[in-house]
Amino acid sequence: MSVDASTVPSRRARNFPLYRTVSRFVRDPLRELERIGAAADGEVARLDLGASRPYLVTHPDHVQQVLRRESQNFVRDGTFWRPLHGLFGDSIMSEGAEWELSKRVLQPVFSTRTIRSLSAHMARAINEAVAALDEPARAGRSIEVMPEMGRIVHDTVIKVLFGDKIRKAEADRLIPAMERLATSIAFRFLLPFVPRSIPLPGDRAFGEGLTVMDETLYELVDRFRYDPGEGYDIFTALCKARMTEGSGLDDHWVRDNLLAMWATSTETTTVALTWLWPMLDRRPDVAARLAAEIERVVGGDEVRPEHLRELPYVRQVVQELLRLYPVGWIFPRIALNPTDIGGVRVKAGQTVLISPFLTHRLASVWERPLEFDPERFSAERARGRHRYAYFPFGGGPHQCIGRHVFNAEAELILASILSRFRPVLEPTDVPVRARIGATLRPNQPLHMTLTPVLRSR
Ligand code: HEM
Repeated sequence: MSVDASTVPSRRARNFPLYRTVSRFVRDPLRELERIGAAADGEVARLDLGASRPYLVTHPDHVQQVLRRESQNFVRDGTFWRPLHGLFGDSIMSEGAEWELSKRVLQPVFSTRTIRSLSAHMARAINEAVAALDEPARAGRSIEVMPEMGRIVHDTVIKVLFGDKIRKAEADRLIPAMERLATSIAFRFLLPFVPRSIPLPGDRAFGEGLTVMDETLYELVDRFRYDPGEGYDIFTALCKARMTEGSGLDDHWVRDNLLAMWATSTETTTVALTWLWPMLDRRPDVAARLAAEIERVVGGDEVRPEHLRELPYVRQVVQELLRLYPVGWIFPRIALNPTDIGGVRVKAGQTVLISPFLTHRLASVWERPLEFDPERFSAERARGRHRYAYFPFGGGPHQCIGRHVFNAEAELILASILSRFRPVLEPTDVPVRARIGATLRPNQPLHMTLTPVLRSR
C-alpha cells in the first residue's frame, strides 16, 4: 500500500501546538509524537514547541527528498545537533569538510572485504560472551536483559574498534562511562534550545562520563600515536591517517571519531537487541520458527559468519525488529535554502525532523503497523516497497556506515543465543514501552530465564 504524495503549492503544514499539551508531552513524549504522526498520516506537520517550531516529515517521498534528493540543502546543523556536536566534535558525526575527511578514512574499514574478516573476529567474541550465560542458565537464575545484551555487544564492538590494542582494564572503564553518557543526554536531546548555562538533569553525570571516556581514549592515542602497527580495526585506521604527513589531523580528531564510533555502535545495537526478546515473547510462533532454522543450520556448533547466508529468517526477524524499534528514531536537518516539501514552503534555516520510528508505523504505508511480523521482509512481500518506507539506517550520503556490521553482529548474537538457550521473558507489571533519549530504551528493566538446549550427541 502507498499513500498519494501529490502536492498542492504552498499549503500550510498542519500545526500541532505541543506547548499547549506540555504536561502530556513531558509525561510521555513518544506517545504524543506517535499520536501526531498518526494524525498527520504522511502529511508535513509542524510541531509548535513555543521556542522552536520544527517540521515533522514522515511520508516516504518526503523523507527521500530530504535525505537523498536534496541532501545538499538539508544539513546536520542547528540546535538539535548541538548536544551531539559538543560530544563528537569534528568527526564523522559532523557535516561538511570535517565529515567528508572522516568518512574517507573510515569507509574502507566498512568495505565488504574488511567486514568479512571483522565478522570472524566478532563471531569469536560473541561465542565467548554468550557462553558466559551458561552459568545463570544452569543455575536457573534469571538475567537482566539490557545489561547482558550490553555486555555481549561491548565485548564485540571492542574488537571492531580496537582489535587487540585495548587493555581489559581500559575497556572495563569505557563501558560504564558510555552508559552514563547515553542515559544522561536525554534532557539535552529533548530540549536542545535550552542554553548550556541553564543546568538540566543529567548534566553532572554526563560530565563525569565524558571525563572517564576522554582520559581513557587519550591514553590509548598516546600509546599508539606514532606506532599503530597493523590491524583491521577502526583505531588503527584513525592512527594511520593521523600519521600521514600533511594530514593536519591531531589527537582530538582521533578521539572525536573514536567516541563517535563507540557511541553510534554500542548503544544502538544493545537497545535493538534488548527489544528482540519482548517481541519474540509476544509471538511464540516466530520464536519457534527462528529456533528451528538455527537448529537446522548451526545445531550445537559455535556460530560462524558462513552460517548467516543460510539463516534468512534470522535476517527477517532483525529487519522487522528495526522497523518497530529503529533505535536512531529521530534525526533533524536544517534547510540551507528555501524549498517545498509536499507543497509546504520551508524557509532557509528551518528545522525538519525525520523519524524512521513514525514512518515505520504509518498505517497508510504498512499493514497492521504495530504487529511484529517478520514475514513483511520475505522477498515476495518486500518487492516494490518504497525505498524510504523503511530506513532504520537513514539514507543518502549520511546513511549509517555501520549497517552491515550491525546486521552481521545482531544475526550472530541472535543465532548464538538461540543455538544454546530457549529464553523465557519474565512477565512485567505494566506493558513495556519505549522511553525517549538519544535512542529508544525500554522504560523498565526486563528479565528472562534461559533454558539450555539439550542435544543428544
Ligand atoms: C541498530 C543499529 C543502528 C542503527 C539503527 C543506526 C542508525 C543510524 C542512522 C539513522 C544514521 C543516520 C544519521 C543521519 O542521517 O543523520 C546513522 C549514521 C551513522 N551510524 Fe549508525 N546505526 C546503527 C548501528 C551502527 C553501528 C554498529 C555503527 C558502527 C560500527 C554505526 C555508525 C554510524 C556512523 C559513523 C554514522 C554517521 C555516518 C555519516 O554521517 O556519514 N551505526 N546510523
